[in-house]
Amino acid sequence: MKTLYLFGNLKMNLSMEELEDYFDSLKQVAGKSNNMVGVCVPYVYLPYAEEKLRGSRVLYGVQNMHELDGGAFTGEISAKMLADFDCDLVIIGHSERRIYYNETDEKVNLKAKKALDFGFTPIVCFGETEKQRKDLKHEEVVKNQLEKAIDGINKLDVKDIIFAYEPIWAIGTGVNATSEEAEKMIKYAKSIIAKKAKIKEDEIIMLYGGSLKPNNAEEILNMPSINGGLIGGACLDVDTFKQIIDIKAN
Ligand code: PGA
Repeated sequence: MKTLYLFGNLKMNLSMEELEDYFDSLKQVAGKSNNMVGVCVPYVYLPYAEEKLRGSRVLYGVQNMHELDGGAFTGEISAKMLADFDCDLVIIGHSERRIYYNETDEKVNLKAKKALDFGFTPIVCFGETEKQRKDLKHEEVVKNQLEKAIDGINKLDVKDIIFAYEPIWAIGTGVNATSEEAEKMIKYAKSIIAKKAKIKEDEIIMLYGGSLKPNNAEEILNMPSINGGLIGGACLDVDTFKQIIDIKAN
């Protein structure tokens, strides 16, 4: 049986009041599971996540960070600040950040390096648009994103990154990649990273994300190259998230 990495991305959802029950329930669910469970919260709730989840089986983190240690960057948060709250996980290069906030591959690379310097686990996201897939450019796009994301990162550190293949056409749309599509791309993506970092494919952890739900997760998560999931919509309710966390994959 493989251990799955099942990380929720709350995005800009839930309130402090809702999080009280959410964290308590998630701790219970994770406590009974052999899978690795984590949740990435909005920045302002990081202290509360630390208070409620530190020492439990639920890893916690945030959804972005700045690549520099400090300076005149209104509205930004540095790795040093996150370290004050014992943050475990940082999502980097989510497509919503790339699309709405102009996050480039170069920034993704700098942020991943900084997160690794601080001992956080970066969850580095990549994936193609619907048009790129239709034009049969998806492999080329992904190769380029990944090679730039890990540029200059030593092989030991690359093994500490968790990668997440999130086809943009599948995020929040209810249209998931089929298990075959996800497996094919993740296998390919692992081969690209293995080649560039000079490590073995089975030393790379890679998740699938994009409309992962209780009704499709079992099939997708059982695919041989897939190590887990990054879950948006379906993580907002712990009863729904539980149905994914409870999956036992071969
Ligand atoms: P979704 O989001 O599960 O709602 O599609 C996934 C993500 O954006 O990480």
